[in-house]
Amino acid sequence: MAFDAINSTLSCTVEYSNALADCSYFHRGCHYLHVSVVRSNQVAYKDPRTWTPCLYQSHCRKMPSVAPYHHNSDNESESGSEGHVEQTDGNNPGIPDNEVEEIGPNDFPRYFDEVDGRLFHSSPTSPYPLPVDAPEQQRLKAFNNLIHQLIGAHYLGPVPNILARDPNRQAQVLDLCTGTGTWLMEIASDFPSVLFTGIDIVPIATRYPRPNVNFEVWDITEEFRWRAATFDFVHARSISWSVRDYAAILPEVIRVMRPGGLYLSGELDNAVFFHPDTPQASNPGLHAPASTLFFQVVNAALQSRGIDPSVNQIVTHLQNTGAFSNIEQIIFPIPIGRWHDDPRRQELGTMLQAILWRFADSVKPMLRHAGHPQAYIDGLVQNFGDEMDTTHGLFGAYHVVQAIRS
Ligand SMILES: C[S@@+](CC[C@H](N)C(=O)[O-])C[C@H]1O[C@@H](n2cnc3c(N)ncnc32)[C@H](O)[C@@H]1O
Repeated sequence: MAFDAINSTLSCTVEYSNALADCSYFHRGCHYLHVSVVRSNQVAYKDPRTWTPCLYQSHCRKMPSVAPYHHNSDNESESGSEGHVEQTDGNNPGIPDNEVEEIGPNDFPRYFDEVDGRLFHSSPTSPYPLPVDAPEQQRLKAFNNLIHQLIGAHYLGPVPNILARDPNRQAQVLDLCTGTGTWLMEIASDFPSVLFTGIDIVPIATRYPRPNVNFEVWDITEEFRWRAATFDFVHARSISWSVRDYAAILPEVIRVMRPGGLYLSGELDNAVFFHPDTPQASNPGLHAPASTLFFQVVNAALQSRGIDPSVNQIVTHLQNTGAFSNIEQIIFPIPIGRWHDDPRRQELGTMLQAILWRFADSVKPMLRHAGHPQAYIDGLVQNFGDEMDTTHGLFGAYHVVQAIRS
C-alpha cells in the first residue's frame, strides 16, 4: 500500500460537521415545500422511468418519441463525433431541448421512499442500499471535503490538459452517481468554459447549479442519451454500491468518452488496515476486531444484494475492456481517528472517523434488511465507533484508478 501517498503539505481546515445539505426539501417532514418555480436553464432532471406532465408548463419541454441519439448511427461518427447537439437550450448548449424536461415539484416524491424515518431512492432496479436524505448528503459533502484535503485537488491526472486540448470545441465532463453534485459544482468553478453534467437516480443535487452545470436524473445502468465521444472526462466516485455489475456499465461509458479522455474512479475500501510495517498489519482482525467484524457484516450484506464489495476489481474491469490505456491505481491511506502525530493527518483521521460513524448509522437499514436483529446491529456499530476512538494505527484506504480512453 502506498502509505507515502499522503502529501505532507495537506492542510485540513474544513469543519465538515457544520456542512448543511442544501437540499433540505428532501429532508423528512419538510420535503418539497421549499420548491418553487425553477428556470429552465437552472436544472434539467430527466426521469428515465415515467414522464408525467410538469407542473410549470411554461418551463417544460416534452420528451420526444424518438430513440436516443446514439441509436441513430447514421447521424453520428463513433470516433469523430464532437458530441454536439443541434437543438439546444440557448442558455445551456449541452442540453438538447427535446430530450430533457424538468421535474416539477409534485414529481419529486416519486424518487424517494421513506422507511423507518430515513429517505431512500425509489428505483426498482438500483441495489444502492444507503439513504439519500439530509444526514447522508452531509456525509457525502464531508467525504468530498476529506478527499479534496487528501489529494489537494478535485482530481488526479492530466485534467487541465485534457479539458483544454481542443480550443474549437467545448469540453464536457460527466459525473456518474453525482449525489449532491458537490464535487461537480466545485470543479465546475475551476473550469468555467467546460460543460459539466451530473447524473443520479435521485434529484438531490442543488436546484441552482452554476451556468456550466447540468444535473439529470438517470440510471447509470441504462443506455446514455449522449452521442458517442461526447465526454472528455468521466468521474466515478463512490459508485460501486450503485451497481451489481461494475463491468456492465463500462461499454456505455466507453462509447460516450472521447479518445484520449480520462476515466477517474475513487472508492473507499470496505475494510480497515494497519501500516504494513507494524505487527498489527498481518492480523487486523485481532487488533481491530470490532471494525473488522463491522465491515465483514456490511460486506456480507452487500453480497447478499448482489453488490461486489471489493474495490480492487475496478482496475481489472477497466483492463478487461481493452478500451483504456495508462491504467493506474493509487491507494491513499487515511488515518481513522486522532491518533496520528502529524497534525494534518490527525485532522484527516478525525474527519474520516466522523464520516465512518455517520456511515455506520446509514448502513443500519441494510443490515436490518439482511436479517440482523436491531440489538445486534446497534452493538456492532457502537463497538466499531468505540474502536475508532481508541485504536492507534488504524487506517482506511481510498482507491483511485485513472485510465485514458484509447
Ligand atoms: C455514495 S453516493 C456517491 C455520490 C457522489 N459520487 C459523491 O462522491 O459524493 C452514491 C450515489 O449513487 C446514486 N445511485 C445509486 N444507484 C444509481 C444508479 N443506478 N444510477 C445512478 N445513480 C445511482 C445514489 O442515489 C447516490 O447518490
